[in-house]
Amino acid sequence: MSRVYVDKSIDFRIIERYPAHMLARVLARKAQRRMLRTVGCVTLPERAVMYNGVVVFDTPKLHGEGITVGADYLRALVTLGFTRCDRIFEFCAGPGYIGYSLLANGFCERLTLADINPVAVKMARRTAAYNGIESLVNIYQSDVLDGIPVEEQWNLVVSNPPHFLPRDASDTNIRAFDPDWRIHRRFYASIRKFMKPGGHVVMQENSHGSSEGIFKPMIESGGGTFVTSCPEKDVRGHSNGMYYMVSCW
Ligand SMILES: C[S@@+](CC[C@H](N)C(=O)[O-])C[C@H]1O[C@@H](n2cnc3c(N)ncnc32)[C@H](O)[C@@H]1O
Repeated sequence: MSRVYVDKSIDFRIIERYPAHMLARVLARKAQRRMLRTVGCVTLPERAVMYNGVVVFDTPKLHGEGITVGADYLRALVTLGFTRCDRIFEFCAGPGYIGYSLLANGFCERLTLADINPVAVKMARRTAAYNGIESLVNIYQSDVLDGIPVEEQWNLVVSNPPHFLPRDASDTNIRAFDPDWRIHRRFYASIRKFMKPGGHVVMQENSHGSSEGIFKPMIESGGGTFVTSCPEKDVRGHSNGMYYMVSCW
């Protein structure tokens, strides 16, 4: 009787995502990290999270909930019926937690990230270089979509953009506040040319700062179709305040 030997230490999900030369590099790095851990060396910097083998770097000042409520994206996309696609764009990406976790979990072939903050962009580039996945990721420093070439064409856009209107002049944190909804307005006014026909935008919003009725007209005047909005729920069925605005383009 013939036997098939399966090396369980190899993550076979990676095999379908990488060309052979890159796969070899990724597996070599994984093996090296595993070895270093075994002898007790600390290989990861203090500020890093890992998604299915992809290490994502950040700094305390870059974190904008992508590693907390942003982690719900995987569940939300599955629940909404999205499956693996060619290209995903994470808008207002910060270090790219959401985008990198979707790439690492096989939700897309290629990823684009953009943020206005040069430090976030630097971190996102460091992540791509460290994991040997530069050829799968395009990263732009961009004010909304202004710095992104129109050759970029996406099936799916995800984002947890700034969620609140400023209450007064002291609310200047660009991770939290979107004055007059200018970022949202500009995004929805210019996203259409970057979308593959039938592509979707799934934007994570916060019901403590906005409601569906604010963004619906922006979607429609940008040429998109509002599909649905759905709240995030915890295990007891309670909303945690976050909701997704889904539109089709
Ligand atoms: C709520 S944070 C989300 C960051 C990251 N996705 C996360 O979850 O940690 C909002 C992000 O929007 C970025 N941002 C603010 N204004 C922007 C603009 N005009 N264009 C592009 N990005 C912007 C901020 O730099 C910040 O990284």
